Amino acid sequence: MPNKATVRSPSNIAFIKYWGARDLEHAIPENPSLSMTLKECTSLCTVEHRDGDGAHEVLWRAPDPADGGGFETAPPAFASRVERHLDRLRDWTGCGGRFRVATENTFPAAAGIASSASGFSALTLAVLAALGREASVEEQSELARLSGSGSASRSVLGGYVEWPADGAGERCHARQVAPAEHWDLRDVIAVVESGPKQTSSLDGHRRARTSPYFETRLERLPERYAAVRDAVLARDFARLGPLIEAEAIDLHTIAMTSEPAIFYWQPATLEVLAAVRSMRGDGLEAWSTLDAGANVHVICTPTSEPEVAGRLAGLAAVEKVLRDGVGPGPALEDQHLL
Ligand code: DP6
Repeated sequence: MPNKATVRSPSNIAFIKYWGARDLEHAIPENPSLSMTLKECTSLCTVEHRDGDGAHEVLWRAPDPADGGGFETAPPAFASRVERHLDRLRDWTGCGGRFRVATENTFPAAAGIASSASGFSALTLAVLAALGREASVEEQSELARLSGSGSASRSVLGGYVEWPADGAGERCHARQVAPAEHWDLRDVIAVVESGPKQTSSLDGHRRARTSPYFETRLERLPERYAAVRDAVLARDFARLGPLIEAEAIDLHTIAMTSEPAIFYWQPATLEVLAAVRSMRGDGLEAWSTLDAGANVHVICTPTSEPEVAGRLAGLAAVEKVLRDGVGPGPALEDQHLL
């Protein structure tokens, strides 16, 4: 039986956002979401299973290269979230023992790009692989979701992925709408804010219902959701673009009108949004979306991508540009971190 495994898992960008939970502890969402799994922004995680009692050990590579770049004991807040998930997975598999974990991201965690979706997806799959434990893709998605990072439930799958909101208890998992080969879309990420965001997504979900616009969004969502899904299936970029930008603006409207209000946007965010609008005026196929942060994901076609990336890099407001695109999902790796 294997006792060590390494998994690389990608992050994802939501076209329809998970925002607000019926059961936050188990990450049961109020609304369905739909995302594109990325290719370059990934987490790499090695898990080693050991017999006997004792504490888990969680190592990470410090996100800031100035910290030395080697593996070190993860800080307490991060380590305890990982340890709780390891306990949960241990209970599910009934394996006993303890785990050693090492994790790192290919993208700068300090760049404010969500790393919990990729990180908890990689951790979940690496534990299952280290134990030689077969799990269906539905079970993998459910287990990743139980980490508390709901978006991790979508990262266990590649391509275009939906996560319905109609499950109950354990039964709530993502499924693939179309594989990566279906449609080559790109995500050029304009990083305008480095460092962790002030308000976590968890707090955002918690406050979402306090916004007077929350119910309005839920009422309008089925129509938008169906339209986004259809546009993805039809590879209709002209239809998809305006829908995803409107969806991101709705999410941030709710955040800004929650009590207390959450302002993820920075002045630089508005500058990028305006630049993307003017790129469209010049004939480029590019639309913006944002997760719970200030950075702008510019979704574009392969033809427009080089020009979009070049123009974003030229903006004073942009610290760096990450070029990514749709990818096939997680994979086992031969090289271990431990
Ligand atoms: C705005 O609770 O999954 O990205 O664990 O921080 O990634 P993290 O957050 P999670 O909420 C995701 C919120 C979102 C929209 C989305 O990805 O659906």
